[in-house]
Amino acid sequence: MRAPVLVPGRASSITFPFWAVLLKNAVFVITQVDDTALSSSHARVLFEGGEHVRHRFTARGFCRTVRWAPQLFRAPGRVNLIGEHTDYNDGFVMPAALEFEAQAAAAAREDRLIRIHSLNNGKSAEIDLSAETHTPRGDWTDYAFGVAVMTEAAGKPLKGADILVSSTVPVGSGLSSSAALEVVVGYALLSLSGHDVDTVELAKICQKAENDYVGMRCGIMDQFISCNGVHDHALMIDCRSLDRKPVPIDPKARIVVANSMVHHALADGEYNKRRQSCEEGVRLLKPALGDITALRDVSFDALEENRDFLPDLTYRRCRHIVTENERVLAAADVLERGDLEAFGQLMNASHASMRDDYEISCAEVDTLVATAQRQPGVFGARMTGGGFGGCVVSLVAADAVDGFIDAVRVAYREATGHTSDVFACAPQDGAGPLAG
Ligand code: GLA
Repeated sequence: MRAPVLVPGRASSITFPFWAVLLKNAVFVITQVDDTALSSSHARVLFEGGEHVRHRFTARGFCRTVRWAPQLFRAPGRVNLIGEHTDYNDGFVMPAALEFEAQAAAAAREDRLIRIHSLNNGKSAEIDLSAETHTPRGDWTDYAFGVAVMTEAAGKPLKGADILVSSTVPVGSGLSSSAALEVVVGYALLSLSGHDVDTVELAKICQKAENDYVGMRCGIMDQFISCNGVHDHALMIDCRSLDRKPVPIDPKARIVVANSMVHHALADGEYNKRRQSCEEGVRLLKPALGDITALRDVSFDALEENRDFLPDLTYRRCRHIVTENERVLAAADVLERGDLEAFGQLMNASHASMRDDYEISCAEVDTLVATAQRQPGVFGARMTGGGFGGCVVSLVAADAVDGFIDAVRVAYREATGHTSDVFACAPQDGAGPLAG
């Protein structure tokens, strides 16, 4: 398989949070400064709220008032344009970082307590890093505390910290709200403890937290793009070497995300089962193909020649991965050449493969994809993310976006009764400090 030419991305530059906080008697007290900003779930509205707040309270001015001097950080969610479930097969993916993001205000402590409060659910929790063992709680705090525990396990001692988090990434929508939370907490903890932040290493630590602390055997795509996204670009990632190449999005097209508003509960269990099927495929193909360590090493021809070694279900799971890897490589080529029609066809083929071979779609998502695919001005559409619900990503001609959004919303509501949240996205930079 051809290796792409890869170069590093560039750093982040978004400004500023939209809320203000103070710390009192070991409890977080939150001063809500702008109702509109805090109650809205839409990133753009939040940033308008942020700008409004900034004129009244810069972070530094506010901190002087309350004598808590948090540093501010952000980490985005993502949409994946193509390359689904290929990451844990050492393959290729092409995500982009979104305007939706997790933000943190964090300050170091003298002791080794990590205390976190979420503005999204109003809950607080803490762990003591000095404790001998740490037991996951089975809730949102595992993403944060898992990162703290895995950072120390990676040989980076941490100071205690007070962390306030807030996120605009919709939960359960396949846009990586958990990776955004992990990365923003990891970035904050490393920075407060005086470590340089290596964004590749941070992505690996966050993936390990999710694999070994949360118990979800995810690949590295979500954490990697949250750490390394590039403004106005998708990122072609080789999930084996972790080389990356920013691919510009042609200004004639927009990325449009439509949320199916459904999330089927079997997602995590089925995800881990898909991963097992891939591992089984590699094990059964190894005697015939020799030195392979992942489905990344298997070409379509080699898979076809040896399909009799595989049970039918395993064969179809492997066929999705092998063809999806080829689609991502082709997609990078055609996107670079500005061939948006060809890119769209690869997206459509990717969806069919996820639906029929990998079986990770569902009725509502198939309806949403079919609805998107038949609109004027659309180049292609597919489910994005882990599957069993969540979002659909479409590539749409820039001058057709408004009509597309309205038509998809109406047709999906008529077909399913669900009101889809549909929005055009502009890719953002990966995680970093927020200027105060
Ligand atoms: C989830 C996982 C990722 C990746 C996608 C599917 O988002 O966290 O690692 O496997 O599913 O592409």
